Amino acid sequence: MCRLTIVLFLMAVAAASNGNQDWPAFEGELDWWQKAVFYQIYPRSFKDSDGDGISDLKGITDNLEHVYNLGAAAAWLSPIYKSPMKDFGYDIADYEAIDPIFGTMDDFLALVAKAKTLGLKIIMDFVPNHSSDQHEWFRKSVKRVDPYTNYYVWSDGKVDEDGNRKPPSNWISVFGGPAWQWNDERGQYYLHQFDPSQPDLNITNELVVDELLNVLDFWMDKGVGGFRIDAVNHMFEADGFPDEPRNNQSGVTDPNDYGYLDHIYTKDDPRCYGVIEKFRARVDAFAAKTDGVTRVLMTEAYTSIENAMKYFGTPEHPGSHMPFNFLLINNLGRSASNFANGIAQWMDNLPKKGWANWLVGNHDNHRVASRYAPELVDALNMIIMLLPGTGVSYYGEEIGMEDTFITWQQTQDPQGCNAGPDHYMEKSRDPERTPFQWSDAPFAGFTEGNSTWLPVNPNYVTLNVKAQELVTVSHINIYKQLVSVRETPTAQQGDLSVRTIGESLFAFTRNFPDEEGLLVVVNLGLEEMNHVNLQTVFDKLPEEATVKITSDFSKVIAGETVSTKDMTLLPNEGLVLGISSE
Ligand code: NOJ
Ligand code: MG
Repeated sequence: MCRLTIVLFLMAVAAASNGNQDWPAFEGELDWWQKAVFYQIYPRSFKDSDGDGISDLKGITDNLEHVYNLGAAAAWLSPIYKSPMKDFGYDIADYEAIDPIFGTMDDFLALVAKAKTLGLKIIMDFVPNHSSDQHEWFRKSVKRVDPYTNYYVWSDGKVDEDGNRKPPSNWISVFGGPAWQWNDERGQYYLHQFDPSQPDLNITNELVVDELLNVLDFWMDKGVGGFRIDAVNHMFEADGFPDEPRNNQSGVTDPNDYGYLDHIYTKDDPRCYGVIEKFRARVDAFAAKTDGVTRVLMTEAYTSIENAMKYFGTPEHPGSHMPFNFLLINNLGRSASNFANGIAQWMDNLPKKGWANWLVGNHDNHRVASRYAPELVDALNMIIMLLPGTGVSYYGEEIGMEDTFITWQQTQDPQGCNAGPDHYMEKSRDPERTPFQWSDAPFAGFTEGNSTWLPVNPNYVTLNVKAQELVTVSHINIYKQLVSVRETPTAQQGDLSVRTIGESLFAFTRNFPDEEGLLVVVNLGLEEMNHVNLQTVFDKLPEEATVKITSDFSKVIAGETVSTKDMTLLPNEGLVLGISSE
């Protein structure tokens, strides 16, 4: 290699490793879900209307203005189906009924009607991998009543040298312990990738797929705007149930912990993608025969970036509109290059017609304020709202809700309970599921009863919707401003340039012809940064920029002008600035 080639090569490597990269503007029309913010409601924890300490549909309906006022376009509800609630609704006993804890079908229709008046869509959670063991299909399958006999994954198991019965394989469930459960009545084992009360449906059985497709129609007929589909990469297991090898990378030594094995036979089976394509064909067919409005599919798979992208399907057979992007859920630390590289990884792997989505939290991961830092909440919302793509928020992120300390005695989540009193805190998802903090009234204004299903975070006295609404520069008002900036052509379709300076400074610009550009600057570090010169990393950046939105503790205020050659950023500070177009 000549010297110049070597220098250019080294520069290219450096550019790739710090994540500095550019992507073009989006051309074409955007559909409603591409412009949207989706707001996830955990239905037990939003607003209780009847004093039992658990939120319900009426509480959600009566307070839907909150979602509307944030500027979100859709509310995704974690499951509200009839359920014994072993996994808080992800164990469905009837796919076509509402659980009485949440209300009635009429309450649901009232919710959809209210949403319609506000121009919001209601998104149902949909769980195809498993049902509850209380589902009629499972009860009949146990009794070998056709056509249900093969609706679940059954096996005789093995017999060891001493003649003792053994499960068919060494598989471990996500919640810990064996993934096989013996059923005396049927005289066979059934598979459960999650709780024993959540038997895996047999998706290789076309009758089961048909049942699931009919469920989609059932809810679309009731007016839902789409579905979030649960655990899609768990839908198939390898034939013959071969043992899985040890996972030598995870560092897990407890043989009952899911991380103990490498899940090469129970996860990411290529047949998963085809099923999503069938779901998509069904929702597209529904739209085609009704109002032509897209019913959106969002899919949940914790998997590699390559596998995540496969859920988009192909141009001929499209799949998910939004395979969830869990990149920012992984704690990226305080490293600007981790953020930049992660974003680059997602953007570069998107298929030609794929559309990005960004989120920082959900009901299965600790609250973003606790995973990163409470002071970073505004900056992280700036990132997910202003990168090109759909934004997804988990209730409470708009006010910076934090994890709540839950004692072992108070623990409800099966994943926490299975881990036992010494380890429940490592596994439990209860801390991120506590009641929404509306005000400083008793129980944060969540209920008028005298208890709540999980304790309210004691910080509700100051950290609540009402208090923040009264303050101009508060998490909630910052959030609302971000959502309104998203409505500009620059935020929706503009190009993207991501840059870093040092380990802590993360920045990106968005530009769109003839429109004001956007510059987002975040100090991910714990040290104040002075004399930051963004001109060294961005081409064609104007010398001055106008502050639009700041973190709640910023010293600069909206409307001020700052020099892009000499900026000061406090630790954890995020700024959104307007830049004049060229
Ligand atoms: C993923 C869901 O998000 C989680 O809450 C649930 O426990 C499992 N899937 C099983 O349905
Ligand atoms: Mg209630």
